[in-house]
Amino acid sequence: SESLRVGLAGLGTVGASVAKVIAEKADELAAQCGRPVEITAVSARDRSRDRGFDHTQMHWFDDPVALAQSNHIDVFVELIGGDEGPALDSVAAALDAGRHVVTANKALLAKHGVELARKSEAAGVILNFEAAVAGGIPIIKTMRESLSGNKVSRVYGIMNGTANYILTRMERDRITFAECLADAQRLGYAEADPTFDIEGHDTAHKLAILASIAFGTQIAADDIYMEGISNIALGDIEAARELGYRIKLLGVAQRTASGIEQRVHPTMVPLGSVIAQVDGVTNAVAVEADVIGTLMMSGPGAGGNATASAVIGDLADIAKAQPGRQQAPALGRPADLLEPYERAR
Ligand code: HSE
Repeated sequence: SESLRVGLAGLGTVGASVAKVIAEKADELAAQCGRPVEITAVSARDRSRDRGFDHTQMHWFDDPVALAQSNHIDVFVELIGGDEGPALDSVAAALDAGRHVVTANKALLAKHGVELARKSEAAGVILNFEAAVAGGIPIIKTMRESLSGNKVSRVYGIMNGTANYILTRMERDRITFAECLADAQRLGYAEADPTFDIEGHDTAHKLAILASIAFGTQIAADDIYMEGISNIALGDIEAARELGYRIKLLGVAQRTASGIEQRVHPTMVPLGSVIAQVDGVTNAVAVEADVIGTLMMSGPGAGGNATASAVIGDLADIAKAQPGRQQAPALGRPADLLEPYERAR
């Protein structure tokens, strides 16, 4: 049957991993999806750079918006990054042109997610973003599909791999914050601007997206109380340990009697708790809800392959979707049914 034609914009760590895995796993993917999944077009800034995969048979676009609107693709994958500019323009253009979209861009969704969800509904296409929250952990699909019918009371966890990696290595290897951060950058975990990781912005973006799906409210990233880990010294980590705790950067969103509370800050968690054992670049997300009780998932939170795995899972969903059938709403319910976010007092 006809292949799903993928246009890939952004060929950094994640983009190159997506391209390599799709090429290596072509037969497996075709068998699982019932049709081939094929990258037919790509876009990035510098055509001459070696990215570790062969794109000579793919259409090349210097402009991601032109790729998004091109007739060579059925689905547009945005891995450019940034909450405005080419990322926003190309995703909006793809949805307007009736292309499905897969994005790993949490900053973009935290700012424009509701408007983009609305566009996807208007066009009758799928907007998938599993890779945007907690990397390889399938938390979006779980919240959007598996937990249907549940009333969520709380969602929280470790959602930034770089920050968790830094905290873990400071404690284990007794090396400085700066050295740990440099390693996280070298391994391809950190954001282009690593202050997003260490000051909590990246966790806040992910939390805002999860909270919207969990509580059926509009995305309210600006309402999040935020404190990062840049002031944590080895002495703080050791003092916490003596008291029986470990310091983790957590994002927490919960229903309270006076509205919804969202916060990101370093938190002392008991050494014996599951969340205290989550090491290195691993993320963990817990959901508390009325029907299921408590669910916790952990897995790789950043890095090329973990993120690529989530992107490819999103593409497989699209490859399997029935054409002409109404698609499930991106944020778990139609954008117009999201309630205004009522911040806890
Ligand atoms: N910089 C992010 C992190 C990448 O470290 O978690 C995954 O979103």
